[in-house]
This record gives sequence, structure tokens and C-alpha cells, in this order.
Amino acid sequence: MKFFIDTANLAQIKEANDLGILDGVTTNPSLMAKEGIKGTEAVNQHYKTICKMVDGDVSAEVISTDFNGMIEEGKSLMSIHKNIVVKVPMIKDGIKAIKWFTDNGIRTNCTLIFSAGQAILAAKAGATYVSPFLGRIDDTCLDGIKLIEQIAQIYSTQNFKTQILAASIRNSLHIVRCAEAGANVCTCPLDSILGLLRHPLTDIGLAKFLEDAKSFS
Ligand code: E4P
Repeated sequence: MKFFIDTANLAQIKEANDLGILDGVTTNPSLMAKEGIKGTEAVNQHYKTICKMVDGDVSAEVISTDFNGMIEEGKSLMSIHKNIVVKVPMIKDGIKAIKWFTDNGIRTNCTLIFSAGQAILAAKAGATYVSPFLGRIDDTCLDGIKLIEQIAQIYSTQNFKTQILAASIRNSLHIVRCAEAGANVCTCPLDSILGLLRHPLTDIGLAKFLEDAKSFS
């Protein structure tokens, strides 16, 4: 399973990248706004900076909701860097746009996936990635992991090439469950990635080793 970081915060991207385990980055308009990035030029410059920092796919989301607008935006985003993946919402014109991007060799990430039916449609249109929003499903008292498992089974049975990019991750256990469920990629906040490091027995064990090592000198 690949690890993407789900943020537009450059310090957090650097910290995750420095671990040596980062395969890419996802952003969305809310994450960009959170960093105070305003205006198309600033947003595009921010994508360029992220692409220079991380050697992997960087999802950049269109904000148009009509076919022509998405195509124009997607072409412009693509021109920023070869690693840009155009992120398109799961709506009718979004599916048409994904098909157009696929036919023109442009990679896509179909976002805001909440059902297996949506994941099938995105795969039929040739999306490179689908992004099921695990945490937001859990927030409605349904089990987001079950959707990941269902999509993984369908894609395997139908031999779809679209990769499952589990999104809206809320904690480290989500990452482990996504790996079990067959997600190809997990895009995570930095805290959830760092949470994978932690175990009290590791801390206790290391403290004892270091204490005992004092007798060596
Ligand atoms: C990433 O592609 C998604 O936009 C993101 O994971 C959504 O996360 P949220 O539900 O925490 O906003």
C-alpha cells in the first residue's frame, strides 16, 4: 500500500517526506484554504512547490462543475508538473471529464466517493484513482472500511485497473484497516502516520536497553 499525505501544509509534507516513506500528496480546496492560499496563481505555485518537494503523484482538484470548465482547469493543472493527477468530483460532468482525460492520457483521481456504485462508474470512465471518504462515512455511523472492502472485491472480480485511494483518514487504526481491506493507497494526515510509530512497550523496552547500556561505559 502506498502512503500519501493529505495536506497542503509544506512543513508537514516535508516531515513525512523526510521519513522516506512518502509516495505522494493529496490536497483539496479546503486544505488549500486552511493554509491561506488564495487565487489561481498562488494555488498553482503551491502545487509546483509540493511537486518539487515530493517525488510522487500530487492530486490537484478542479473547482469547476461543468465539463468544459473541468477540462480547461485540468489541462492547466497538468501543465504545472508531470506528477499532477487531476482530482475530479463524482458528478455527471465529472464522469464525462474523467473519460475525456483518460482518452487524452491525463491521470485522474475521482473524489467524494461514498458508494460502490460510484466507484464502478469512476472505474468505467478510466479513473486512475478513486477516493472513498472513509472518515466521513464513519461520521454517519456507517462502516467506511466495509466500502473499501466492497470496492476492492469488485475491482478484483471485474479486473478494473483503477486504484483505491482511501481518503478522509481520521486515525492510525484506519491506516491498518485500509491495508487489510486491500486499499492501494492511503492518504493520511501527518498525525495518523506518526501514530503508527507509537507503542508504550517500545518506549519501555528502549528505556531499559539504554539504562542497561550505561554499564558498558
Ligand atoms: C483527500 O483526497 C480528501 O479530500 C480528504 O481526505 C478529505 O478528508 P476529510 O474528510 O478529513 O476532510
